[in-house]
Amino acid sequence: MSINHSDANPTPSPCVMVIFGASGDLTKRKLLPALCNLAEDNLLSIQFAIIGFATNDFTTESFRKMLAEEIPKYAPAPINPKIWEWMRERIYYVRGDFQDADAYTRLEQQIKEADKKHNTLGNRLFYLAVAPRFFSPIAKMLGQCCLSKEESGRWVRVIVEKPFGHDLASAKQLNQELRQVLAETQIYRIDHYLGKETVQNVMVFRFSNNIIEPLWNRNYVDHVQITAAETVGVEHRGGFYETAGALRDMVPNHLFQLLTMTAMEPPISFDADEVRNKQAEVLHAIQPIGPEEVLTNMVRGQYGPGLIDGQRVAGYRGEPDVSPDSNTETFVALKLLIDNWRWAGVPFYLRTGKRLARRMTEIVIQFRRTPFVLFRNTTVKNLETNRLVIHIQPEEGISLSFGAKVPGSIMKLGLVNMDFDYSTYFGTEHSTGYERLLRDCMAGDATLFQRADMVEAGWSVIQPILDVWHALPARGFPNYAAGSWGPVEAEELLERDGRSWRRSEEDELDKRVRCAAAYRAGINK
Ligand code: BG6
Repeated sequence: MSINHSDANPTPSPCVMVIFGASGDLTKRKLLPALCNLAEDNLLSIQFAIIGFATNDFTTESFRKMLAEEIPKYAPAPINPKIWEWMRERIYYVRGDFQDADAYTRLEQQIKEADKKHNTLGNRLFYLAVAPRFFSPIAKMLGQCCLSKEESGRWVRVIVEKPFGHDLASAKQLNQELRQVLAETQIYRIDHYLGKETVQNVMVFRFSNNIIEPLWNRNYVDHVQITAAETVGVEHRGGFYETAGALRDMVPNHLFQLLTMTAMEPPISFDADEVRNKQAEVLHAIQPIGPEEVLTNMVRGQYGPGLIDGQRVAGYRGEPDVSPDSNTETFVALKLLIDNWRWAGVPFYLRTGKRLARRMTEIVIQFRRTPFVLFRNTTVKNLETNRLVIHIQPEEGISLSFGAKVPGSIMKLGLVNMDFDYSTYFGTEHSTGYERLLRDCMAGDATLFQRADMVEAGWSVIQPILDVWHALPARGFPNYAAGSWGPVEAEELLERDGRSWRRSEEDELDKRVRCAAAYRAGINK
């Protein structure tokens, strides 16, 4: 098989990609399917090889066999057999302990052989798909074995999966330990949310549309809501989740990516540092959270038993590897203020949780109400407000709601929607979300990766919440039923400000269908 690269798709850099922890889920579920998709689209160099490195007892042959059996279960679309054959021939496996120097000698040997056979020009990409406790030891070993050194025009890059620390102090320590061995430009901290097409589109949507950006500020925006709701529980990750909780697991990383993309100032180019500087500025501008604000503006919750899709499911405390009296939160809702010229006085409400009513990730820009003066002598009681919703998943698209006159001789207003659906316009992409990120890393583009200072800035924002919640363990958990929209306090957080969370799309649709039915019924009378 040959892979052709057109001018439109500049050839990515050749390299050997070493996956630490290659026998784990990420390799078969995401990384290999993503690499096959890149190959299919001619976006992977033909001078490429993969080395799996883990403690499990595989040989190169049995590792290839395992992947051949497992990948089809997870790939978003069937993999072209020719592509798989091509990929398979360049997959190798080295068995070893992450802290054993001999294993690194074997690894180095395998890298050299793969380099020679596939002409990868000495470039190396190390992917740390391992438990966080191994990040620093692996970096240290790479340093000791001279595998991390960039010389004679060869690059060495290291991708680190989240979590980057579990609080501010540990994040700083991790960054420091990584930088003892690697330059910041070699470290690629991956956040899979930035691999999502619609997240990448936020910047494009804002800065390529002249009708949008002038409204994107405190003069026109009443508030912003960011929701990442999941219907799944903690699945088989109870042990990890007990030490993390929803705040650590989702907020300083995924939700802050959405927040900074939404709130950042326009960068002057797509240069990695230029974009990341603008994102970091947003994090630095978040109003410091004092203990008082933690108590009033930050809500935590934990799910009890309930119904998901009509099926009875256990509460968090009944999940495997979870303590029966656990106080770990599975839901958070936060109100944040950004103290800068653009956003002063505009609240950003964030919420995320497991076992909620619907899987739904979205950004809602709620605009201010227009003056009512024109309508005061009509039958119109109140004016609805414009709302822009960026749907991130499962639907991908953008909708804008606006008021329209309901046909008829009496002045009535209805709220209607203008919808853009990604798949209708561009077709369905069978992507894992890792394609763009892997390719960018191979091309040396760090725009969509987190820089050390951004990670630390994110932790600085939530550290006061961690501190207060640690000092005052939650009382009254579980406080929401699986299948609901979270604890009542999350509703109250917005109600106090005279606002409410956007109801899920289905509810909205129901409402519109009901309105249309009521309207038709009125006509038929
Ligand atoms: C991960 C969290 O980073 O993101 C998980 O650790 C969470 O707990 C997941 O379920 C959500 O990702 P996505 O892409 O399904 O929204």
